[in-house]
Amino acid sequence: MKGPVAVTGAAGYIGSWLVMRLLEKGYTVRATVRNPSDSKKTKPLLELPYSEKQLSLWKADLGDEGSFDEVIQGCTGVFHVATPMDFESPDPENEVIKPTVNGVLSILKSCKKAGTVRRIVFTSSAGTVNVQEQNIPEHDENSWSDVDFCRRVKMTGWMYFVSKTLAEKAAWEFAKENGLDLITVIPPLVVGPFISSSMPPSMITALALITGNEAHYSILKQVQLVHLDDLCEAHIFLFEHPKANGRYICSSDDATIFDLAKMIKKRFPEYDIPQEFEGIDQKIGLVHFSSKKILELGFKFRYSMEEMFDAGIQKCREKKLIPLYTMKKVHAVDEVIDKVGDPEGKNKVNGFDDQVSVATN
Ligand SMILES: NC(=O)c1ccc[n+]([C@@H]2O[C@H](COP(=O)([O-])OP(=O)(O)OC[C@H]3O[C@@H](n4cnc5c(N)ncnc54)[C@H](OP(=O)(O)O)[C@@H]3O)[C@@H](O)[C@H]2O)c1
Repeated sequence: MKGPVAVTGAAGYIGSWLVMRLLEKGYTVRATVRNPSDSKKTKPLLELPYSEKQLSLWKADLGDEGSFDEVIQGCTGVFHVATPMDFESPDPENEVIKPTVNGVLSILKSCKKAGTVRRIVFTSSAGTVNVQEQNIPEHDENSWSDVDFCRRVKMTGWMYFVSKTLAEKAAWEFAKENGLDLITVIPPLVVGPFISSSMPPSMITALALITGNEAHYSILKQVQLVHLDDLCEAHIFLFEHPKANGRYICSSDDATIFDLAKMIKKRFPEYDIPQEFEGIDQKIGLVHFSSKKILELGFKFRYSMEEMFDAGIQKCREKKLIPLYTMKKVHAVDEVIDKVGDPEGKNKVNGFDDQVSVATN
């Protein structure tokens, strides 16, 4: 048995897949969740292969200083994945920024107290890298987002970009001052199948062209992507690699919103995918995230952009998180409900019910 290792945010999209891969590799895993009695969130973890012998659930909250002390005591590694992913918080400072920054510091303090932790792997974000006033065509680990610019412009997700940038910077400072071995992994938009029960925040963005969630188009405009499985394998690869050191971008693909629109339309013709976007020039170029550093260490990406979308869309459909077809306007669906009848009122106008789905093409 390897470990024990702690995984924070273990019931989330990335956390749960990471727990699955760690268990498969023979690690004993201490998974932290905010509410261990929320069975909707914990069931997918408890049903994982090897969970009976290798997995334990622990309660901890980023907002409670010291709440990670107990779970981290005795661990050889910590994967800090948890973060508040609320893009629309009415109180961004207190609900998103403070818990993210104070949370990572609280975890690092717990690691220092424990004295058993060999390495901490912190899931950072592309939001710490490329949110800058000037559009730069290529980024590596030396790029940092401009927090003042985010606070001034308040683009979609600004509080998240600020929270992750300040948290990663604070983590580096604390780790250096206290001699902790910290690695940060920088994922762009993560896409792929998942075992968590609700719609993952990044899939809301990735599938915005299917759901018509236009607020997220600005994120897709010039986007970088990685498959969830590649990302989790990269976390473990970096935890285990003796020479890993510093920040690591983990991004396999770059695309524009036009590339994504074309690809999804071709692979899923049952959806009505827009091909033009107001205010976005057809000729916008790619913005590249360089994964040279992790590739030079020996890591290999296994999945293409098509594979991440195919499997991610399939999983969302299976879990009834997105409709199977593009629906016509609500009034058209109402007409269909009138025609087919809805005696028990079960047919919700949400596009999930086959009988009332209306393909537009
Ligand atoms: N998905 C992406 O595209 C993407 C891209 C770049 C970086 N990331 C990073 O990856 C990490 C995981 O993201 P995700 O996509 O897996 O999101 P997610 O599904 O929303 O998972 C986030 C987890 O954080 C936990 N959490 C939130 N607030 C917390 C708090 N106050 N205390 C303790 N736990 C808290 C939640 O725990 P509960 O289950 O207890 O509610 C949830 O399980 C984040 O650090 C994010 O910044 C994600």
